[in-house]
Amino acid sequence: MKLLVKNIKGLVGAYELAPALLCGKQMRALPIIENAWLAVEDGKVVDFGEMHDWPGISDWSNLEVVDAEGKFIIPGWVDSHTHTVFAASREGEFVDRINGLSYADIAAKGGGILNSARRLADSDEEQLYAHALQRVKHLISMGTTTLEIKSGYGLSLEAELKMLRVIQRLKANVPIQIKSTFLGAHALPMAFKEDKAGYVDHIINDMIPRVAEERLADYIDAFCEDGYFSVDDTERILAAGAKHGMKGKIHVNQFTTLGGVAACVRHNALSIDHLEELSEADLSALLEQQKSGQQTIPVALPSCSFFLRIPYTPARTIIDAGLSLAIATDFNPGTTPSGNMNFVVSLACIQMRMTPEESINAATVNAACALELQDRVGSLTIGHDANFILTKAIPTLAYLPYAFGDNLIEDVFVGGKVFRK
Ligand code: NIG
Ligand code: FE
Repeated sequence: MKLLVKNIKGLVGAYELAPALLCGKQMRALPIIENAWLAVEDGKVVDFGEMHDWPGISDWSNLEVVDAEGKFIIPGWVDSHTHTVFAASREGEFVDRINGLSYADIAAKGGGILNSARRLADSDEEQLYAHALQRVKHLISMGTTTLEIKSGYGLSLEAELKMLRVIQRLKANVPIQIKSTFLGAHALPMAFKEDKAGYVDHIINDMIPRVAEERLADYIDAFCEDGYFSVDDTERILAAGAKHGMKGKIHVNQFTTLGGVAACVRHNALSIDHLEELSEADLSALLEQQKSGQQTIPVALPSCSFFLRIPYTPARTIIDAGLSLAIATDFNPGTTPSGNMNFVVSLACIQMRMTPEESINAATVNAACALELQDRVGSLTIGHDANFILTKAIPTLAYLPYAFGDNLIEDVFVGGKVFRK
C-alpha cells in the first residue's frame, strides 16, 4: 500500500532522524515544511519534502493520493497517561463538587476511586472490553494514535487482572500502539481498610509477580499522595516493579508535595505525572538527576486541573529550568472525563503558557519518550509509523490550539490508512 499526501500547507514534525527527548529551549523548535509532500509505504513514513523538489513518481499503480491544499499534517497525539478502562461514569460526584464538596470529601464518603472499584468488581470482562473498545475508537477519531492505559480500579488481584486482560485485548485488536501500566496502589480497598501495610505487601508479594508472570503490564504506578500511598510505600512498589522489569510511571504531587518526586528520581522512574504542586526541592532533585544523564520525565495533565479546579502544573518553571515536559489527558471517570488531546494542547497554551510549538512537542515527541516509543511514534521520521492528523483548512499552526474546542481534524491516519470507527 502506497500513499502520497501532496500540497500540504504545513508538514509538521517530519525528521530524517528521530528526535530525542526535548528539554528546555529545545521544546520551542518544531520543524514545519511549507507546501510539502509526504510519502507512505506499508504503513511507514518513507519520504517527504517540498513540492517544488518533488522527485515525481515512476509507478502510479496501487498509489492513493490525498490533496492537502490549505491543510496541515501533524504527528498523531501520544496520550501517555489514561485510565480508559472503567465500568461507569461518575457525574454524580461532578454535581457534588459543584455543590461544594472537594475530591477528598467525596473520597472520604466512599466515592472516588472506591466508587469505580465497586462498579468494576460487578462488571464482566466482556462488557468492560466492549465499552473500553468504543472509548479507544473515539480517542483515535480525536487524533490519539498512541495510548497508555492503567489498571487501578480493581484493587484486588482478580479485578486488577481483569482490567489488565481487557487492556491486553485492546492491544491486540486496535491498530494503534497501547502500553499498559499496573496501578494496584491506586487506593486502599475496603478489604484492607485498617491494614495499609498489608495491602502494600499484597501488591508486592502477590500482585506484581502474577502480573509479571502473565506479562500483563509494561509499567508500574502508584498514587503517591496524602491519604493514599506514602513515599515509602511508593519506593517499595517501585523497587518491586523494577525486579520484574517494570519502570515507574508514578502519580505524584497532585494535591501535596511529600517528597515523592525525589523518590521517583532515586529509582529512575520513567515519568512523574501530575505535579500540580512542585517544590524547590522537587525541582532540584530533577535538575541534579539531569546532570547525571538520566531523566525522569515530568508529565502535566492540564484537563485534570481544569475539571477539578486545582492548580496547573507549573510548566514554565519546569521548561525554563531546562527540563523536559510531556502532556497527557489523564482520561478517567473521576477527575478527567475527557480524553481529548486537542483540548489538552490548547489548555497547555492557554493556562500553562506553553507556546504552540512547546505544547505540540509535549504531546508528541516527549510523550512518545514517556512511553519509550520514540523510535516508532511521536514524529514523522522516516521509517516511523505513518500515524498522523490531517487538519481541516487552517491559516496557521497556532490556529489549532487557539481555536480551542473546535474540531479541526479532517482525518486521522493510522499506519497510513484513514481511521474509520
Ligand atoms: O489521575 N489521582 C489519582 N488517580 C486519578 C483519578 C482517579 C479517580 O478519581 O477515579 C487521577 O486523577
Ligand atoms: Fe491518573
